[in-house]
Amino acid sequence: MNDRFLRACRRRPVDVTPVWFMRQAGRSLPEYRALRERYGMFEIMASAELTAEVTLQPVRRLGVDAAILFSDIVLPLAAIGVDVEIKPGVGPVFADPFRTADDLERLRPLDPTDMAAVTDAIKILTAELPVPLIGFAGAPFTVASYFVEGGPSRDYAKTKALMRSEPTLWAALLDRLADIAIAWLRAQVDAGASAVQLFDSWAGALSAEDYRGRVMPASARIFAGVADLGVPRIHFGVGTGELLADMGAAGADVVGVDWRIPLDEARRRVGGAYALQGNLDPALCTAPWNVVEAAAADVLERAAGRPGHVFNLGHGVLPETSPDTLQRLVEFVHEHG
Ligand code: CP3
Repeated sequence: MNDRFLRACRRRPVDVTPVWFMRQAGRSLPEYRALRERYGMFEIMASAELTAEVTLQPVRRLGVDAAILFSDIVLPLAAIGVDVEIKPGVGPVFADPFRTADDLERLRPLDPTDMAAVTDAIKILTAELPVPLIGFAGAPFTVASYFVEGGPSRDYAKTKALMRSEPTLWAALLDRLADIAIAWLRAQVDAGASAVQLFDSWAGALSAEDYRGRVMPASARIFAGVADLGVPRIHFGVGTGELLADMGAAGADVVGVDWRIPLDEARRRVGGAYALQGNLDPALCTAPWNVVEAAAADVLERAAGRPGHVFNLGHGVLPETSPDTLQRLVEFVHEHG
């Protein structure tokens, strides 16, 4: 088993810098698009075999140092009976968004048997994978933002209005989502996942004060709730430059950094007690190779060969990215990192 990803998460020395890509399984790969012509997102996620196959696709083709379970942050809500669909090109859409205290009843606790397809997929994967498998969950704020808005949003107006106008209901909502995330992550690790990533993708929309007082406690409870499992815990969000220190302090071992903050500056902000993951701008991966190469070299230079760097993009792979570029990028990081 290639363990340089886990070693880097723990800030131990590595032979070469490990690399994987958020959204490495997905529409940038022709073999994924071919499967999606025959199966819907939820059809793939309901099948252990298809989930395992899609998770393996980027590992086979790209030579990355970690796999990430193919799933979605809203799957646990679907598993407990909340009506949600994933619209291609849009994202998760809820037929009946969260509005009042009555809606809390729809968030019943998650039972591991609700996610048998996922844990079965993980069992297939841990037998087949040459690299560690990352399990994941959506952080309470990011999942709540979809559930409250009813779908993707630019300004999170309904979510922020609820957060400030009904603080007790807001805290109760985030608490239930935290419990669901803890159960979801624990089941993934019990089945064989070797690390977990909490995606608080949209936390960067918050002020530091709102984040610290109204969001971070629920995320911190999730990290505490999986601490005894002993697997590295990664905490990622987009546009979170002002929150990086708090995202580490929430209980992570690895802080994900998007492309807006250079890695050496991110290091200054989080301090030396955490590993960093990032942070090549995914948009640049659509440019000619010489541009990608220069940008990747800059990321590695700022990481400065210190232990505790996992190379990744600053957010997910864009669908129009060429798999050849990603493959070359893996080779480049392995050669120069
Ligand atoms: O390889 C991987 O990274 C693992 C797979 C993965 C998916 N979703 C598959 C997916 C992961 C880790 C997620 C998490 C997820 N889902 C997040 C957090 C990560 C992030 O990007 O910040 C968020 C915010 C979501 C919600 C979501 N689901 C969005 C915004 C979308 C995109 C909508 C679109 O079509 O552009 C989805 C759908 C989705 N999730 C796709 C994939 C591969 C595309 C589905 C398709 O049409 O095939």
